[in-house]
Amino acid sequence: MVGQRFIQLLENHPWFEVAWLAASERSAEKSYGEAVKWRMKTPLPKQIAEMKVSPAVANGSPKIIFAALDADIARELEPQFAENGSAVISNSSAWRMHPSVPLVIPEVNADHLGLIETQEWRKKSGGFIVTNANCSAIGLVLALAPLHAKFGIEKLFVATMQAVSGAGYPGVPSIDILGNVIPFIKNEEEKMEIETRKMLGELKGNEVQLADFGMAAHCNRVPVEDGHTESVSVSFKKKATAERILESWSSFRSVPQELKLPHAPAEPVIYDPRVDRPQPRFDVDRGNGMSSTCGRLRPCSLLDWKFTVLSHNTIRGAAGAALLNAELLKVKGYLG
Ligand SMILES: NC(=O)c1ccc[n+]([C@@H]2O[C@H](COP(=O)([O-])OP(=O)(O)OC[C@H]3O[C@@H](n4cnc5c(N)ncnc54)[C@H](OP(=O)(O)O)[C@@H]3O)[C@@H](O)[C@H]2O)c1
Repeated sequence: MVGQRFIQLLENHPWFEVAWLAASERSAEKSYGEAVKWRMKTPLPKQIAEMKVSPAVANGSPKIIFAALDADIARELEPQFAENGSAVISNSSAWRMHPSVPLVIPEVNADHLGLIETQEWRKKSGGFIVTNANCSAIGLVLALAPLHAKFGIEKLFVATMQAVSGAGYPGVPSIDILGNVIPFIKNEEEKMEIETRKMLGELKGNEVQLADFGMAAHCNRVPVEDGHTESVSVSFKKKATAERILESWSSFRSVPQELKLPHAPAEPVIYDPRVDRPQPRFDVDRGNGMSSTCGRLRPCSLLDWKFTVLSHNTIRGAAGAALLNAELLKVKGYLG
């Protein structure tokens, strides 16, 4: 799913061009058109369909690798590419929490890229690994970052309703998910709780200090094609009014907007005041799938405030996130 989204987003990219494709041995040596079950709503580009899929070996691979591998495979393969001198821009959870690996949302913690210089691969070959977070953590953190900066999060509760495309292809069998809700996504709650605090943490010297707040996540799979919706309750260390929260979201602009990166959304966080929005069917593609859409801001009777946030899991939550990381890396001079 994420690999296909990369191909879609890289078509006509002003800076990057698909030079090499790799997947498992099931696909290697086939043309991409034969190997893939194309699930995007735009046509598969002809020249990509004709490219041969290579085995996923680092020797001779290009300088920038957009990786969308299962975590067990990524744990083993990504270091081999970094060791070989490639910039590995990864979607997998395998290396996200490693102390020398940046876990980055360019609007939130672009400075964490400084960790790259502490990586052994970088010192040996110039290669490195940079990661983006779990798809539900990214949308949430975009909405929280301007609030955390002003008011300081004290406690955070979130319940997710996550789309089926988040489980990859073919993902959850239709008989299990149609007309149903599955209240379990393996390791998802643990990932959300720790990755949120790493991204909102501070880079001090050569390490990221996790943001200091308590968090509980409940993760559910729902029969939605694309788009993770999240119900959030939050309390702050400083007093936050509704007006100041709304103003924090509407004025939120950061490094990608200042640098005019090709995949930067004009508005990273959009607030929709309608009582029944955001909804994945109507709002998932806002900002070309790169914005988080918030709605239903109201007082919470347990914590301070509650609201809903929606983001596109394979664009802002995966391939688009990695692409924005790559664009930032290029502008910052990390891609040579
Ligand atoms: N889907 C999302 O919304 C989302 C969001 C954020 C992060 N992620 C993460 O991104 C990664 C990919 O997710 P996905 O949803 O795209 O999964 P997916 O649809 O199952 O795709 C996995 C890909 O990994 C390849 N692969 C498997 N074993 C391999 C091996 N031994 N060597 C080389 N390639 C191998 C597969 O190749 P074949 O095509 O040959 O089988 C396939 O292309 C996962 O770590 C996931 O957690 C996904």
